[in-house]
Amino acid sequence: MKAFVIHGPNLNLLGTRELSVYGDSSLDEVNAVIEEGGKELGFELSFWQTAREGEIIELLHSGIAAGVDGVLLNPAAYSHTSRAIADAVRAVPFPVIEVHLSNIHAREQWRRTSVTAEAAKGIVAGFGPHSYVAALVALKGVLDR
Ligand code: DQA
Repeated sequence: MKAFVIHGPNLNLLGTRELSVYGDSSLDEVNAVIEEGGKELGFELSFWQTAREGEIIELLHSGIAAGVDGVLLNPAAYSHTSRAIADAVRAVPFPVIEVHLSNIHAREQWRRTSVTAEAAKGIVAGFGPHSYVAALVALKGVLDR
C-alpha cells in the first residue's frame, strides 16, 4: 500500500513551535514515528510539507498519477478556512484522512470547525505523532475492507 503524508503550514517548526500544544518532537522525529508505524502496517510512505495552499492541492492531485491508496493530510490552519483544499479532497479518488496533532475541539472556538474535514474520509486529532499512526491503522482498515 502506498500513501502520502502531507503536512501543511508551520509544521516545519515542530519542536520549537508552541511546545505546550504540539510537543517537543521535530517534524523529522514525527515523520520517523509515522514511518515506523507505516512499515509495520505495510505502507510505503512519501512525506511532504508545504506552507502553500495551492501546493497542498497539487500534491493531492499528484497522488492520482503516483497511484497512492490514500493520503494522510494535516492541513494545519488551512483546515479552518480552505474550501479549495476541501474541494481537492472531494476530487481525488482515494481516501484522505485528516490528522491533527492537537485536539482541535478542545482549543479556541475558531479551530473547532474544519471545512477540510467535511470532505475527508475521517479525522484523527489529539494524539500528537500517534494521530498519524492511528490514521494509518484506520486507512489500512478501510483499504482491506
Ligand atoms: C494543527 C491544528 C491547527 O489548528 C493549527 O493551525 C496547526 C496544527 C494540529 O496538528 O494540531 O498548525 O493542524
